[in-house]
Parts: sequence; structure tokens; C-alpha cells
Amino acid sequence: MCGIVGYIGSETAAPIIVDGLRKLEYRGYDSAGVAIHDGGKIEVVRAMGKLRALDEALTHKPLEGTVGIGHTRWATHGRPSEENAHPHVAGGVAVVHNGIIENHTTLRHELQQKGVTFSSDTDTEIVAHLIAHALEDGAKTLIEATRTALQRVEGAYALAVLWDEHPDKIVAARHGSPLVVGFGEEAMLCGSDIPAVLSHTRDMIFLEDGDLAELSPGKCSIQTLKGNPVERPKKRIDWSPVMAEKGGYKHFMLKEIHEQPDAIAQTVLARVDLEHGDVFGEEIGLTPELATGCRRVYIVACGTSHHAGQIGRYWIEELAKVPCFIELGSETANRDTVFFEDDLLIAVSQSGETFDTIGAVKKAKAAGAKILAISNVMDSAIPRMSHGSLYTRAGPEIGVASTKCFTAQLAALLLVAVYLGRRRDTLTAEHAGEILQALTEVPAQMNELLDDRDYVRSVAMQMTHATDVLFLGRGYSFPIALEGALKLKEISYIHAEGYAAGEMKHGPIALIDEGLPVVILCPKDDSYDKTLGNLNEVRARDGQVIAIATKGDEAMHDVAHHILWMPEAHPLTLPMLTVVPLQLLSYYVASKKGLDVDQPRNLAKTVTVE
Ligand code: G6P
Repeated sequence: MCGIVGYIGSETAAPIIVDGLRKLEYRGYDSAGVAIHDGGKIEVVRAMGKLRALDEALTHKPLEGTVGIGHTRWATHGRPSEENAHPHVAGGVAVVHNGIIENHTTLRHELQQKGVTFSSDTDTEIVAHLIAHALEDGAKTLIEATRTALQRVEGAYALAVLWDEHPDKIVAARHGSPLVVGFGEEAMLCGSDIPAVLSHTRDMIFLEDGDLAELSPGKCSIQTLKGNPVERPKKRIDWSPVMAEKGGYKHFMLKEIHEQPDAIAQTVLARVDLEHGDVFGEEIGLTPELATGCRRVYIVACGTSHHAGQIGRYWIEELAKVPCFIELGSETANRDTVFFEDDLLIAVSQSGETFDTIGAVKKAKAAGAKILAISNVMDSAIPRMSHGSLYTRAGPEIGVASTKCFTAQLAALLLVAVYLGRRRDTLTAEHAGEILQALTEVPAQMNELLDDRDYVRSVAMQMTHATDVLFLGRGYSFPIALEGALKLKEISYIHAEGYAAGEMKHGPIALIDEGLPVVILCPKDDSYDKTLGNLNEVRARDGQVIAIATKGDEAMHDVAHHILWMPEAHPLTLPMLTVVPLQLLSYYVASKKGLDVDQPRNLAKTVTVE
């Protein structure tokens, strides 16, 4: 996820900015750059790779000047490269940007017709040109030109802008991506995240969506996109630097659980056409030929990604009526799997580097199958081997136990299922529109769930001494039961098993007694009555029932010991929601046990061995 730092004051800006960027390294990035105003003109230095490379480039070309902006880039539009690294410059205007400009194709085309040539593949460069044009067209100040430009822009952004003609100003703007303004000693700073400015000040303003701020040494004035002045309260931040990296949360995992609404919103952004009930194929790495030309879909993945794939399979069969198989990467790679030329293989991998999934991709590719990668890391191994790539935009995930990458993978897989259904004529525009609308509502519903975390914590406190826990679910809730069990075992070291509720009678029922907590996913969906039957069977054998149920389901009070409530939601988007209390439950159990939640023993974030 990209990082922004800006500084204007009396000290040499470049080292302060690079130091701020270093504080954002935990977010992950593939290139970095700075633009410094030396009083006469703007000079830019950029480098591929780690900040070390930028440091080295700056020793070859030292930049003087006390005003500047800097950026670490996590590629979304355009591959990681020096040309695509920020800042981008046009007509004396330098811009750094976090977020995604949704209407970048239209704007790029429009600018090209006016004779603009682009030097990068990024959506950000468009903003630099738009601001430069506004200045040419008579805007008197940088903030006025930025405002004019942003009125044309749709999407999410946090921006910092410099202009040749204004050596004493930085303009910062926010819409959808966070940006803070810090008050230093006779200096002003801005940053995409608190750690970027925390070593210089604890006094900050959090810009709101639609705000533009004009920074000069010791001064900040804020206005709206319409040009009306506004005041935002200054806050004092008492976090330690380590707390700041974790956004004030105790662990990265908890932070990442809370980042899920944003991860889903970003993954869906600019990829759906709600009006026509459709998904933009070119945005998700698919073409109509791929969608209609495949006779079966085969999903391969490992770990948590495999659970996302299982739900993807159900969606694809339900919406696109095409046979869909799911298999573990290791199993696919190590047996005589049969692939055909008209197979579409979807490889789901947050890291894009998992050895076993790569093995499966190689096998399918050798047989002539078409490959779609779903990954969180641009240009990682699996996307590079694939015919098309769909990137989840969850930002870097630091906690080894995957949370936000999982729900972002679900959002991506639902987009694929809808696209396949529309191209294969098995899904009407109206039905697709309903599903996509429901998908856009997930972030708000997730926030509602996250607000209930204290209750989940109180339930977790009663599970810390458990030695075994059973998770049950049917239909779309079955893979979530598997994921709930995996989360609990990997971070709390409690033995946990996920089972299809319908299979309970074939074995696990023998385990049930008063000492066994049983987590049952029983939301109001098509499987409700049958799952309620299983729940009663557990209760009749004195199992401790923790139910995941839909708000308003009063019957639950009679049968469950604890109830974790879900908001009412579309049945197809439910899995993105039901998993949230399960993630919280395992997090609070492990945290209470004092375990290393972010780096559980024996596990690795990326598994590049067989
Ligand atoms: C490791 C990680 C898991 C992840 C799995 C698959 O085991 O700890 O969180 O689900 O690998 O990784 P991938 O990058 O392919 O999604």
C-alpha cells in the first residue's frame, strides 16, 4: 500500500521525507521517490526497490531545498518500475498519490487528444497533467488548480502536490484515502499515516473526504472541493512509534481485521457497473472469449486462500452454471491431474509465490489451460505465469494468519462469478445488479460487525481453556467453518476442526459433551432449518453452543449459549460477514493466552517450499 510524506519548513527536506517513508515501510512497497523544491525549480529522484536504492540515488544526486514530497509505491496501475514510481511531474507540477482514479481511462484519452504524452502507465500522472492544465487555463494558485482538477476525478485519493512557481507551498488533498497534517516547529508535514510524521510532531489534523489543505511553514488552511474554508480539530496523538505502526492496535492481525471494509471497497472499486449489472472484464483479467470458451473451471490454492476458493466454486456453479472444481495446490501438483485446453484455472494466492500453487499452475499451463491469477502482490510469480491477473487491493498483510486478504479474495471471486454468469448468459443484468449492489454494501455491514467486538471478546475469554473446538456450517457457511477452525488453531494452538454440518452425524457427533465448545454458523439462509436441526442435536448432547445468527432470530436465545449476531445481508455476500466474528474470536483467544499472534510458531506468511 502506498505511502505519502510531505515536509515544508526550514530544514533540508529530503532526509526528513525519506525518514518518514521509512516509518511506512511496514505497509509494503516496490519503488519510492521524492520531489524537492530548491527555491528555483523542482528536482525529482526515484528508484525501484527498497528505500536503500532511493538513498543511494540521492547520494549521487543530492537534493537541497526545504520543501518536498515523497512516496512509496505499491503498484496498482502499471507494473513496478522507476517510470511508474511517484512523484509524477507535468508542466512544473509534481504529484504523489495513494488510491485509484476510477475514470482514469476517460481522462487519459481526453488528455491525449489535447496532445499530452504520458511517461508512465499510472493513473496518478493524469492528475499532474490536469493540475498543470488548470494552471495554464488561468488558475492563480496551486490549491485552486488542484481543486479544479479534482472536480474531474472520480475514485479514491490522497495527494500531495508541489508547483515550480510556489516554492513555499504544498497542497494536500483527501478523498477516500487517509491523510494527516502534522504541525512541526515552524514546519508543516503531511503523511498518509501517523507514523510518517510522528517523529516531528504529535499535533495533527485528520483531513476529511473532500478536504484540500494548503501548507506553508507553520501554517495550514483547509477548504472543501467547492472552495469553502473549513476548520478541522487539531488532535494530540500519544502513541508510541510501535503502536503507530500498528495504527494503535495491539497486533497487526487486529489492525488488518479492521481494515477489511476498506480492502473490500478497494477491490471492488472501478470494477463494477451497477447500472448495467455487470463487471468490467479487462479490470479483472478476463475476456468474453475466456469466459465463454471454458468448459470447466478449476480453482487451486493453499491454506486460507483454499477456503476462499471453495466459496468461489459455489458462486461460480450457482451463477455461471459451469462445473467448477477446487483442489489444494499440493494435491494438484503431485498427482496425475487431468487438465484440458478449454479449462480455466483460477490460482488464488495472496502472496502469489506459494510453491505448491505454482506447481499446479505449471501443470495446467502445460496442458494448455488458461490461467487467471487472483493475488494481492502485483507482478509476483503466479500473476507473471498467468494469462490474466485480478489483484485484490487489500494492501500488505503483515499478520501471518490471513484475514483481509481472505475477504478481499472473496470479493474478487464474486466479481469473477458474476462476470462468467453474465458472459455465459446464465445471469440476468437485474440479478447481477442486485448481487453487485449487495457487494458494495458489505464494507458498511462489516463495520457494524466490528463495532460488536467487545461482545466477541467476552465470549473468547470463556474459550481460552478449551482443548478442542468444533466449527460447523452448511453451504456457503461450510468453508467459513473450515476457516474459523484454521484461524483458531494457527494462532491459539487449540485443536479445532471445521466440518460440514451435514456430516456431523457421520463422526464428530461422537465428540460432543459438555466440555466441547461448538461454533455453529446458522445465519438465515437456505440452509437455516437444517443447520438449526444440527444445533439442536449438539444442544441435546450438552455441547456448548456458540451460534452465528442473523439479527432478529429470536429462536436462537432458546438454543445457543452465546450468539454472535450478523446484520441481515444478501445470501451470497454472507460469507464475507460471517467470517469476521470468527477472526475476532480466535484473535482474542490467542491474545488473552499471551501468544505471538502476528507470528505464530512454525508458520510462515509465504511458503516457497514444497
Ligand atoms: C501460508 C500463510 C497462509 C496462507 C497460505 C497460502 O500458510 O500462512 O495465511 O493462506 O500460506 O498462501 P497464499 O499466499 O498462496 O495465499
